[in-house]
Amino acid sequence: MAKRVLVTEPIIPSVIEKLQKHFTVDVGERGKYNTEEQLKENISDYHAILPMLSNPITESVLSEATNLEIVANHAVGYNNIDLDAAQKSNIKVANTPGVLSDSCAEFTLGLMLAVARRFYDAQEYLLEGKFESWEPLGFLGMELQGKTLGIIGMGRIGQAVAKRARAMGMDIIYHNRSRVSDETEQKLNASYYSSHKELAQSTDFLTLHCPLTDETRHLIDAEVLRLMPRHAILINTSRGPVVEEAALAEALHNNTIGGAALDVFENEPEVHPNLQDAPNCLLTPHMASASYKTREDIGMLAANAIIGVLNGKADSEIPNL
Ligand code: DGY
Repeated sequence: MAKRVLVTEPIIPSVIEKLQKHFTVDVGERGKYNTEEQLKENISDYHAILPMLSNPITESVLSEATNLEIVANHAVGYNNIDLDAAQKSNIKVANTPGVLSDSCAEFTLGLMLAVARRFYDAQEYLLEGKFESWEPLGFLGMELQGKTLGIIGMGRIGQAVAKRARAMGMDIIYHNRSRVSDETEQKLNASYYSSHKELAQSTDFLTLHCPLTDETRHLIDAEVLRLMPRHAILINTSRGPVVEEAALAEALHNNTIGGAALDVFENEPEVHPNLQDAPNCLLTPHMASASYKTREDIGMLAANAIIGVLNGKADSEIPNL
């Protein structure tokens, strides 16, 4: 009998078709598996699950997963999965590194430009009928050229951002758990800061590309926000809880920083009410990797891990385990 795979939400069809060549595949309705209860009810039916980052694959869920061999997350981040519990139950975990770096980096640059040059305020102004004539003092923003970009998290996505920011004429400084190689630093012309606080002090733009861990939760708190220059712009496309949202909202309302763009939120999909009306704050619904190509690549990488594991391939032959 064919093994059974649960894809928790509709994803790019070619990925489902690929899995269907090997297994019986069920695809959940949008949002159906965003609770532990729903996952627990169904998970024992499956040998593999391809969950979204919104699906809590907790210890309690995994305790019901009597047939499960692999969780292949449809994301590079895997803070929705209890890794220790998976390991204890001998369930393999895969993620999707590499394939979304370009898409996320392009989106990050887009957010930087959009906030610094006030795209959305400008559109609102225009649509409200306020554009009467060319204004020499209207919508004065900040150029990227010659500015300093601070990057927290210099993995694949951070480096892809740095490469693009260099092309825009920016100076790059970064903080990371460990220093990247001399070669990478030279290629990106990036200077290392061992303290994220000192980094924050020296930036015109601060962008976050670190995973969510105990160390990075609320890394950007009231103190760090106070250290940022008044004109500086914060961008977060990593995970919401890396930023203390209440403190950010306060900083924006008090104009102690210049602006922010957030693609991720502390209690996703909720958005802190004080951020919703904060000045110069652009909010997007966790979509940095949302290009067709990237979402197909993400799905294929996850599907390949499932195909490998369920067909008995050695772990060493599955690069994203
Ligand atoms: C990821 O893969 O972790 C992203 O947040 C999804 O876009």
